[in-house]
Amino acid sequence: MHGTLKGKHFISLRDWSNEQIDLLLDTSADLKRKHYMDVTTNYLPNKTIFLMFFEQSTRTRNSMEAGIAQLGGHANFLDTSTMQISHGEVAKDTAVILSSFGHGIACRYCDWGIGNKYITDMAKHSSRPIMNLQCDLYHPMQGVADLLTIKEKFPGGTKNIKISIIWAYATSHKKPVSVPLTQTLLFPRYGMDVTLAYPKGFELPDWVIEEAKENARIHGGSFKITNNMDDAFKDADIVIPKNWGSWSGKNPDVDINDFKDWKCTEEKMALAKDNVYYMHALPADRGNEVEDSVIDGHHSIVYQEAENRLHTAKAVMALTL
Ligand code: CP
Repeated sequence: MHGTLKGKHFISLRDWSNEQIDLLLDTSADLKRKHYMDVTTNYLPNKTIFLMFFEQSTRTRNSMEAGIAQLGGHANFLDTSTMQISHGEVAKDTAVILSSFGHGIACRYCDWGIGNKYITDMAKHSSRPIMNLQCDLYHPMQGVADLLTIKEKFPGGTKNIKISIIWAYATSHKKPVSVPLTQTLLFPRYGMDVTLAYPKGFELPDWVIEEAKENARIHGGSFKITNNMDDAFKDADIVIPKNWGSWSGKNPDVDINDFKDWKCTEEKMALAKDNVYYMHALPADRGNEVEDSVIDGHHSIVYQEAENRLHTAKAVMALTL
């Protein structure tokens, strides 16, 4: 790799090369070791980072706030409902002003057709890096934390590990497609054999599928789609059963309640390899997406995955701000 990442936006991992992502993962591992040893990592002294949230969050908000404190900076949490955005102030004006006050702006905005446009609009006008904390299309912070977790579990390399991104039933809320979309684009770049499984009506956009196939071709992995949940579990090294909403409008008659059996159960897990890992970005809809005995069982690495949100968020900020 050549050149610093200072000043680089973190909006989609599609804008980051594999070399740049690898540096991010190396930096995350370094920060993780230092965190465990209580080594001071004062990489952002006196720097202010604004955290704008249009939606709720547990992991993302707190990994950013804790991470910024641990890097010696100051996190300024902004509930956008109390900002002038609620009176119509545009992305440009918010970005110009906040970037003149501080050193970075991070934003979560998941509304379909709006969130990514808002964040990229901010990036056009901000004099400081913009970080995407999840939009309608991407969740790059989750993507790098997932990749770090997978690399920790497969130190021999990620090539041709069989990983299945699986739609699951949920009632808690309509979850964005940004997590499975990010994973679908990212994992083939690391040579994995990726299966995407969902009931008809929960397709990801066509361009995502085309790009995932191309990424698999370039990096020596594979990519396939199935509408059969058992096929996705069969012989998998990693399963990621998680709900996402239907966005496409291709199947207006789709009724989520027809797919209550798309649940991650011990029976399904038994179809996978003996040492299969269960992952989920969280929050999980326990009892619907997954049985307690699976998410709390020995295959589950969800807490390691969640903890890695801290280390990877710190790496993004240490490298770009
Ligand atoms: N995985 C994730 O982004 O969690 P939060 O919604 O709690 O931030």
